[in-house]
Amino acid sequence: PAKIRLRHLLDAKERGRPFTMLTAYDQISAQVFEAAGIDVLLVGDSVGTAVLGYSSTTSTTHQDMLTFTGAVARSVHRPLVVADLAFGTYQTGPEDAVRHGVELIRAGAEAVKLEGGHEIVPQVRALVAAGIPVIGHLGFTPQSVNSLSGHRVQGRETAGADQLADDAIALQEAGVSAIVLELVPAAVAARITEVVAVPTIGIGAGPDCDGQVLVWQDMAGLSGFEGRFVRTFAHLRGQLQTAAEEYRAAVTSRAYPGPEHSFE
Ligand code: KIV
Ligand code: NA
Repeated sequence: PAKIRLRHLLDAKERGRPFTMLTAYDQISAQVFEAAGIDVLLVGDSVGTAVLGYSSTTSTTHQDMLTFTGAVARSVHRPLVVADLAFGTYQTGPEDAVRHGVELIRAGAEAVKLEGGHEIVPQVRALVAAGIPVIGHLGFTPQSVNSLSGHRVQGRETAGADQLADDAIALQEAGVSAIVLELVPAAVAARITEVVAVPTIGIGAGPDCDGQVLVWQDMAGLSGFEGRFVRTFAHLRGQLQTAAEEYRAAVTSRAYPGPEHSFE
């Protein structure tokens, strides 16, 4: 199958065919998702909470993003690889955004994602002018968890919903290639999906977005996180624990390793 490019996401929107994005942070997960036909791999700054043990993505560093982006980009051919700009690498202005965006592209990303609306339009314009495709991220924006007072659905009131739609249009005019909508009422996400020409990618944003994204350890039942918007398509946490318990039992009882695992 052909290499996925941003153009494919726009085609999918125009044809009304939902596309798929999952986070990936390492070689094995990236290769498994490529084999499964996932269109887009997001090296999210969620690597900080999903892998590195930070309590919020505000702790994820640019160096973290370069390391994990490299791991994913080296491991796959077909999916589009998108990397998050870490907290603090673009809020300070367009020059910083471009400098860090260039490094993510150098590490193997094919587009970068950053959080925010009208306030980051200069950064989006500068990145696009530098030849770096940009994906926006509106609604609940985890890097602003402290300002937003926790993980809350955004745009529930009319004014908030209108602001989200205005921000989506501002991002489109600035040149984004797609927009992630996180924790947004389904009707608001549907409205934004209709008013913008670029694809929307939902997480906790209902069924009408053009694509969907989940953190892979949530999708696979490995993290143990089961928020309302998550469906667990496997139960890997329990399976992995059982495997480790059986390994432990086999070693402590001397059932493993046997002669078949040993060298003459
Ligand atoms: O970092 C991440 O995993 C994300 C997705 C949840 C959209 O930004
Ligand atoms: Na992110």
